[in-house]
Amino acid sequence: MFLAQRRLCSLGSRTEFLKTIYSSKLLGFSTSAKMSLKFINAKRIEGLDRNVWIEFTKLAADPSVVNLGQGLPDISPPSYVKEELSKVALINSLNQYTRGFGHPPLVKALSCLYEKFYQKEINPNKEILVTVGAYGSLFNAIQGLIDEGDEVIITIPFYDCYEPMVRMAGATPVFIPLRSKPVDGKKWSSSDWTLDPQELESKFNSKTKAIILNTPHNPIGKVYTKEELQVIADLCIKYDTLCISDEVYEWLVYTGNKHLKIATFPGMWERTVTIGSAGKTFSVTGWKLGWTIGPNHLIKHLQTVQQNTVYTCATPLQEALAQALWIDIKRMDDPECYFNSLPKELEVKRDRMVRLLESVGLKPIVPDGGYFIIADVSLLDADLSDMKNDEPYDYKFVKWMTKNKKLSAIPVSAFCNSESKPQFEKFVRFCFIKKDSTLDAAEEIIKAWSKPKS
Ligand SMILES: Cc1ncc(COP(=O)(O)O)c(C=O)c1O
Repeated sequence: MFLAQRRLCSLGSRTEFLKTIYSSKLLGFSTSAKMSLKFINAKRIEGLDRNVWIEFTKLAADPSVVNLGQGLPDISPPSYVKEELSKVALINSLNQYTRGFGHPPLVKALSCLYEKFYQKEINPNKEILVTVGAYGSLFNAIQGLIDEGDEVIITIPFYDCYEPMVRMAGATPVFIPLRSKPVDGKKWSSSDWTLDPQELESKFNSKTKAIILNTPHNPIGKVYTKEELQVIADLCIKYDTLCISDEVYEWLVYTGNKHLKIATFPGMWERTVTIGSAGKTFSVTGWKLGWTIGPNHLIKHLQTVQQNTVYTCATPLQEALAQALWIDIKRMDDPECYFNSLPKELEVKRDRMVRLLESVGLKPIVPDGGYFIIADVSLLDADLSDMKNDEPYDYKFVKWMTKNKKLSAIPVSAFCNSESKPQFEKFVRFCFIKKDSTLDAAEEIIKAWSKPKS
């Protein structure tokens, strides 16, 4: 009996649970089975139990592994950002709850920062919501605006939480792939990956509630151009659709590219919520602070979700972030401003990763923005015969590489829906916001790797 209950407790999902109940010896234990039905997961999370970050971060935790996996900067965050946080802890009142929708000095700093880009006043209390990371913004936006029966357009590949968040809201994700034109002989650039405008239009209909845009894009590094954003904006207006624009890498664009905000296109402000991240802005991912900017008629619904879930974010972090933002707001045109200096620093690292991957015969997709680079690694010698066969190639490859080469990365099929996984399963994603010594160690491993398969 006890054993039977233990087994029930350890069962994961509803499907697994029911399968076991109906097919196993447990059938004999009708009382315990009935009681234990309460242990089943809620339907809304059915099938969402696997998560790439949990799986691969655990593998990369071994200190002997060079971690180019999760987007986790190991460079030092700016010293003034850390200093502001240490000052705040000494002020009693800043260790207590603050305003739920955003600490007043922080929403003020954010409105001041963004007014310049939106070329309009942004009401700090009504048009900005501070959240638990960009994840919190995505969750609030999707829970606050998307209903059962709605459709939400998502481009493939996509930041992995978009699909489960849409499904948890009871809506249907509708996928459209970024496709690459052929690039024989030339370097492969993230700008070679585009959406086909006709195909995109075919995804819109009367049920379409929103499209989720991500620029600069994770994992491809694409920075959408004015023309590409105009196509999306026109369709949003034509089909009366919202746009959830994930712009967490907004400052990280490389020479020749410019980050544009779709919310500033005519007719888009009123239908767009734009998401940012302190973790990405100041290389402090552990702070888990994000924000959403948009018109009050949308933001108020996100506020409703926030007030009934986390209610408020950590006060000391918000105060420190506000002070750090002021330092950079006052020197926006100065090369020392972190929004200008970080992309310069990262562009050198990007170019280094490109050369490294090319030196072993790979053809990486050179990102125009963000801090990831992806490459088809199937040319690299890797004996995956001992790996479990029920996973995409890239999952097996990264697990094998982490164990045998002591280098970690992230499988790109994790950024795909089930149908499109085969299209991307030969690609893995390397993170390059890493100090030179980490990149040196990665270089040593990759260069020592046996010659590419002929
Ligand atoms: C595209 C994208 N959106 C959202 C997030 C989540 O950001 P945060 O850590 O601020 O929650 C990430 C993190 O890597 C990301 O790459």
